[in-house]
Amino acid sequence: MVKILHTSDLHFGRPAVAAQLDSLKGSIAEISPDAVAVSGDLTQRCSTSEFLKARAYLDSIEEIAPVIVIPGNHDVRWIGAVARQLGAVGLVGRSAHDFKYSKYIRYISPELNPSLEIPGAVIASCNTAHGIARGSLTRRFRDLGVIGHVNKRDLKKVEEAFSKAAPDAARIVMIHHNPIKGETSGRHGLANTKQALEAFERLGAELVLCGHDHQEAVHTVQEYAPGIVISTAGTISNRLRAGRPSSFNLVTIDDTELRITTYAWQHPEGFAPAREHSFPRSAASRSA
Ligand SMILES: [Fe+2]
Ligand SMILES: [Fe+2]
Repeated sequence: MVKILHTSDLHFGRPAVAAQLDSLKGSIAEISPDAVAVSGDLTQRCSTSEFLKARAYLDSIEEIAPVIVIPGNHDVRWIGAVARQLGAVGLVGRSAHDFKYSKYIRYISPELNPSLEIPGAVIASCNTAHGIARGSLTRRFRDLGVIGHVNKRDLKKVEEAFSKAAPDAARIVMIHHNPIKGETSGRHGLANTKQALEAFERLGAELVLCGHDHQEAVHTVQEYAPGIVISTAGTISNRLRAGRPSSFNLVTIDDTELRITTYAWQHPEGFAPAREHSFPRSAASRSA
């Protein structure tokens, strides 16, 4: 059985809650997952001090389990995102790209689309946090720099990781932005949800891990990519939505079933199992 602890939106900085971060680390030690997947928004203001705290925390959990992490919209420097649009191509565009992700690359990882294979599963990341980018523009001004999108270059990385993985490994994609509308926020995180989900399905994904909405959710997709399961992890911070507690999701996969257990913050005891969803694995995914 594969066990993946999926967490998101730790927001080091003012929103961080030390007791929750300690409890999360305790849960990781207790559950002993095969991997910890962190789907972005490590920082609140993309500052060096926040990244240093995030780095130290990731180091401490890497002593317990392998960690795979991607950037969220809060981890991208805005000015580089604007400059990249103005600079179009070439040198200006390149250096703007480097500036946009410079802190993330320096303190967290140079790889924006990392992948991790563990026995029985492969997690391939697709960076959706591009700051203010053409593909992420919507008509809503408040979404500027907040919404994300999936582009072909990043999808290629997912395809490469899946093509190298063992044939029977469960195919999992990790992104930051939620492709399903949040129940309370009423918002999609992605500007191109349909294209993204269709592409993930075409590549053989059976599970998508995401965050960003700060409200935990588990869905199966009915349109575009029927059958794909989506695990949206809540936040581990005080940036809560509609009074919902902080939470993380534990994904377990065996030959016949994919199960997602949401652990919610129950002050003062810590994180405890609160809800469970299970899905039969499709014959196609089992024999892939
Ligand atoms: Fe967030
Ligand atoms: Fe976010």
